[in-house]
Formats: sequence, C-alpha cells, structure tokens
Amino acid sequence: MISSGWDNTFYLYTFGCQMNQADTGIITALLQQQGYSLADMEADAGIILLNTCAVRENAVDRIEHYLQHLQGLKKRQKGLIVGVVGCIPQYQRQEMFSVSPAIDFLAGPDSYRSLPLLIEQVRAGQRPASLEFNAAETYEGIDPVRQGSISASVPVMRGCNNMCAFCVVPFTRGRERSHPFNAVIAEVRQLVTDGYREITLLGQNVNSYCDPEIGRDFAALLDAVSREAPLARIRFMTSHPKDISESLVRIIADRPNICNHIHLPVQSGSSRMLDLMNRGHTIEEYRQKIALIREAIPGVVLTTDIIAGFCGEQEEDHQATLQLLSQVRFDLAFMFFYSERPGTLAARTLEDDVPEAVKKRRLQDIIDLQNSISDELYQEAVGTVVEVLAESESKRSSQQLRGRTDTGRVVVFDREHYQAGDRLNVLITSSTSATLIGRPALSVGHVS
Ligand code: SAH
Ligand code: SF4
Ligand code: F3S
Repeated sequence: MISSGWDNTFYLYTFGCQMNQADTGIITALLQQQGYSLADMEADAGIILLNTCAVRENAVDRIEHYLQHLQGLKKRQKGLIVGVVGCIPQYQRQEMFSVSPAIDFLAGPDSYRSLPLLIEQVRAGQRPASLEFNAAETYEGIDPVRQGSISASVPVMRGCNNMCAFCVVPFTRGRERSHPFNAVIAEVRQLVTDGYREITLLGQNVNSYCDPEIGRDFAALLDAVSREAPLARIRFMTSHPKDISESLVRIIADRPNICNHIHLPVQSGSSRMLDLMNRGHTIEEYRQKIALIREAIPGVVLTTDIIAGFCGEQEEDHQATLQLLSQVRFDLAFMFFYSERPGTLAARTLEDDVPEAVKKRRLQDIIDLQNSISDELYQEAVGTVVEVLAESESKRSSQQLRGRTDTGRVVVFDREHYQAGDRLNVLITSSTSATLIGRPALSVGHVS
C-alpha cells in the first residue's frame, strides 16, 4: 500500500520505441491502481521515472544528460525519487547505479509490478533494483493509460528470440512471449467501445506471434482484430522479413481496414552483410517478399530501417544498399550508423572496423538518396485525393489539421469544419519530403 506523508505524484519520461511508449501506459496504470497520481509536469512530481532505450549509444547518452539535470533538481527538492526503468537498466544491470548518484532505483521491463515496492524500499533508505526476466509477464489484466483518444497501440507480444548481431533488444526484453488471442480481442473490443479510430498491434517481431493457448498465428490475429474493429484502421509493427508469410500478405490485401503499409526493416542491401548481421535471409529473398507484397496489395507503401557501416562493410556493400533503395523506392526509411553494443553477437565475434567518418559519410549518402526518393514519391501524390484520418491540430496553425493516409503518409490540410477523429478525402496541393499538404476534397467540387 502507498505510504501517506510522502509526495505520491509521479512524472514519466519515455524514450525509445513504441513498445516503450506502450509500457509507459502500463506503468502509469499500475501506479495509479496503487494510489499514486500522474503529475502534469516534472516540477509537480515527487517521483520521476525515466523509461529508457538502449538500442544505440546515443540513446544512452541522452539519459546521462537527463540524469545530470535530475541530480541538480534533487539538491533543491528534498525527498524527490528518481527511478530508471526499461531497457538501459536491464542491459547494464547494477552498474547503471554508477552512472549517476541521482538514481534511487532500477527496474527492468518485466518488473513493473514491483514499482510500488521499489518506491517503498527507497523511502526505507535502500537503493533497490529489480532486473529479473519473467518469461510469463505480459501485463495481462492491466488496462493501460493511453495518450489521446483516436489512436491506440496494443502490444501483442513482448521480447525477441532473434539474435540479429547488432541488436540489444533480446538482452533488454528477454524471450518472446505472446498475449493470449482472446485477451487481445477483448482489448480491441474495448477500444472500439471507447471510440478509437486506429489500432496498432505492436511487437518487436509481430510475425512470430503465437497464441499461447491455441497456437493461432499473427495472420489469424490480424484477421480477427480487423473484423472486431471494422470501422477502425488497423496497423501493425514490426515485421521481420524472414517471417512475413504469404497468408499474412493475403489478409492485408483482403481486409479493407488493414492499412496498406508494411514496415519491413532490411538493414542492408548486401547479402554478405545480412549474413554477418544474422538476419536469416538474403537480399534476393527480401526482393521476392517485396514482389509478393506489391503484387498482392496494389498501392501498398513500404518503409524500412537501414544501418550504415556495420562490421566488415565494404564500399560495394554500401553501393548495394544504395541500389536497393533506388530500386525498391521506400516511402520512408529510419537510417542509422552502426553503434556497437557490448554483449551482442557482433560485439563478441566481429570487429567494428568501419571508421566513424566512413560510417557517417555512408549514412549521409543513404539519407540524401532516400530524401530525394521520398520527395519524388510525395510530389507524385500532388493532384490526387487521399483518405485521411485527422489526428490532431497541426503544430503550425490552428486553422489546419494533421492526419495520416491509410499508407501512413502525414497530411496537413485546411481545417474547415473538420475535427480530430474525422475521416475525409483530401486533395493534395503540394508536398515536402515528409508531408503532404492539401484541403478537404469535397469543398473543391471537382477532383483533377
Ligand atoms: N524489431 C525491429 C527493430 C528494432 S530496433 C526489427 O527487427 O527490425 C530498430 C532499429 O534500430 C533496427 O531496425 C535497426 O535499424 C536499428 N538498430 C538496432 N541496433 C542498432 C545498432 N547497434 N546500431 C545502429 N542501429 C541499430
Ligand atoms: Fe533486434 Fe532483430 Fe529482434 Fe528486431 S528482430 S528486435 S533487430 S534482434
Ligand atoms: Fe529501445 Fe528497448 Fe525499444 S532498447 S528500441 S526501447 S525495446
């Protein structure tokens, strides 16, 4: 139980991927259930939690920056508690304490049910850490506190059993475990009742979803979710190329409310690099998957992730990546230079031998090429009419709304009488490399 006489308000900073954002909703719900209340801003909180990401070194550097700030705050605010939770403490374990004297406790992604206990232990003068993996933990029964009322994410699995050589996620999130099929459907049913218009199924590797009770796969889950929420847009991420199945592609093609967008991280255009990365497929197999997807789902949009300068990467491997980008023409890519993470397969068995300047130059080549492709693709959309789900007011003007197409493209358009949550046709009148700009099509009278 919560102790009285203490400041029991908390504030959370979230870093990292959508899984971490979803976990923040779980942490908030767990603490609120125990009588803690969410503060509107840091200055109002007696407990500050950093929900962290360890995927690249710069993600870790960012936390150190925050911890310095919190250390200053603790000098001024007696009794302030700082907890570091999520992927960094899970990865660095107790050593994390030595990063900053500001840290009062640590909790890994499977330990959030212990947060109230950890806070009590800090108040009793301890510096506790809860960093055990629990391969059964899916936080079933916890109704997460969600941000916004239009789009909701639903984690369907946790952890990752792949061992991509560069990646810390198997070390930070542990073994794969899937949520029960019926629990996912019940959550989706509730979201429909609550009026959500877009539902994103989340997992580090959603295609290896496997219902723990009756063994149904991700294609079956996606199909059932799309039927349960026929008026909502259904999205999912992330798909590993080796696991994306023909049955899944067919379901995306058949079900009108499953978005025609697949995020399919490729990492490199060279089979030699994919092998060193332990991705489990060649570039030819990747191209075949893309061909299958494009044939089955007309108008599908593909996005990807790329790593420049992985161990042993030669100029010809880099050229193969550029060639792949030119040929596939992804709508968008998340592009990184390789950052060695201690303990991963690559750190243990390969040499991080591409000089930093070369990594950065190759990354810049990739960014420049991808930006020009995105520019062209967005430019091609000018003059067309697209269906948009309005999500929020545009950052620039209260006279404009911001939303996305079924394929995930961001659209900013004149508000007229529309509001967030509406679905409408928008005539695209101009574009940048990351945004389509337009106005509601109905008011135009004709569509050219
Ligand atoms: N589960 C997803 C990706 C998770 S991490 C998948 O399988 O694709 C998100 C992205 O971060 C990865 O796709 C990769 O491009 C990038 N990334 C992961 N580890 C990295 C590292 N050590 N250095 C640079 N980028 C990395
Ligand atoms: Fe990391 Fe690979 Fe798992 Fe993605 S599939 S989380 S890149 S190990
Ligand atoms: Fe980062 Fe953890 Fe997600 S390492 S990418 S927050 S699973």
